[in-house]
Amino acid sequence: MRTQVGIIGAGPAGLLLSRLLQLQGIDTVVLENRSREYVEARIRAGILEQHTVQTLVDAGVGDRLQREGLPHDGIHLQHPGVRHHLDFPQLCGRRVWVYGQTEVVKDLVAAQLDDGPPLLFEVSDVRPEDVESDAPRIRFTDADGVPQVLECDVVAGTDGFHGVSRPVVTAGAGGRTWERTHPYAWLGILADVPPSADELVYSWHPDGFALLSMRSPSVSRLYLQVDPTERIEDWSDDRIWDGLTTRFALDGWELRTGPVTEKSILPMRSFVSAPMRHGRLFLAGDAAHIVPPTGAKGLNLAVADVTLLAQALVRWLTEGQTDLADTYSDRALARVWRSTHFSWWMTSMFHRSGDDLDAELQLSQLRRLCSSETAARELAENYTGLPLDT
Ligand code: APR
Ligand code: PHB
Repeated sequence: MRTQVGIIGAGPAGLLLSRLLQLQGIDTVVLENRSREYVEARIRAGILEQHTVQTLVDAGVGDRLQREGLPHDGIHLQHPGVRHHLDFPQLCGRRVWVYGQTEVVKDLVAAQLDDGPPLLFEVSDVRPEDVESDAPRIRFTDADGVPQVLECDVVAGTDGFHGVSRPVVTAGAGGRTWERTHPYAWLGILADVPPSADELVYSWHPDGFALLSMRSPSVSRLYLQVDPTERIEDWSDDRIWDGLTTRFALDGWELRTGPVTEKSILPMRSFVSAPMRHGRLFLAGDAAHIVPPTGAKGLNLAVADVTLLAQALVRWLTEGQTDLADTYSDRALARVWRSTHFSWWMTSMFHRSGDDLDAELQLSQLRRLCSSETAARELAENYTGLPLDT
């Protein structure tokens, strides 16, 4: 087997990269170790920046997003007694969309299986090899148990945080990583109940952070801060709704409750690995970095990476110019660090930990966001997505 770009991992990063390259006449093969059903059922975040939406629409995979996605012009910031709306178009001329990452993945898989390049599910033993040479390859075992070799010009490691690509880059390039596991986790639920607010509510509360989000006019997505040692079995639906009701309490407003269809506890981590390239192996998305979900940046960062990477590979493989490939890692990392900072800042502002001094500092920052247009604009610009080269 031979292709121009061998792509490891069929998450949003790998699937979108394949699509963007296909549109520019570059051949790809995508190798995924899970099943299609598994990949399409994974529940992740659900906020798309304007640039992400534009990229998906331009790539011809935005029809359902345009029909079913919910445009949001802002978010609500809450602390006891106050719920303040930030108006994004007024602050920075952009908005965001609510559309689940699960739906983005379904749309990309459908497009790829319809008229796209090969996408192989349930492969195993995937190994990028000889990435320092001009002729790298990926060895793997196909779904029938037959060993295969995929010869490539370039390998893209879009295989997420637990993938096989990052260790090859780190070892080969002598790279380094930065990591922090935050001292709190999110308990997330999906519930069959219409969202209780028109737009997302980020709420600071003495008991801990809570976030009200949604997936559609009839499905709510809610999160509450818990200790990372908590077990989901100890959280009955009633206990979850009680916690959420307390943390969102506001005079004249009520949290609607309903049947919980999914619940899980998510760890919170900040992680960056540099460089994002070694030889002909390029990393993009969660393979290279993880942000805590508070800023809704994970998926958007993956889309920004592959947008830069697609441009770089098109230039290399069709025009023979390596300039964009050579600057890919530095350009992507500049944006990664900006998003890592924004996500860390949102996370540290809203989550209870530390002592009462920390709490007062958090509240002071929130009050500043609610009273100063300058402070609010900085949040709005980052939340809705900064320009690609940031
Ligand atoms: N071989 C083949 N595929 C693999 C391997 C492997 N050895 N290891 C992992 N994969 C697959 C995973 O099963 C997954 O489908 O790679 C894919 C990686 O996808 P994601 O984890 O979704 O990562 P990415 O595409 O970078 O998307 C980033 O996902 O985790 C969220 O918050 C994150 O929203 C962000 C987005
Ligand atoms: C979500 O809807 O899952 C979501 C929304 C906003 C965030 C994180 C997650 O900041």
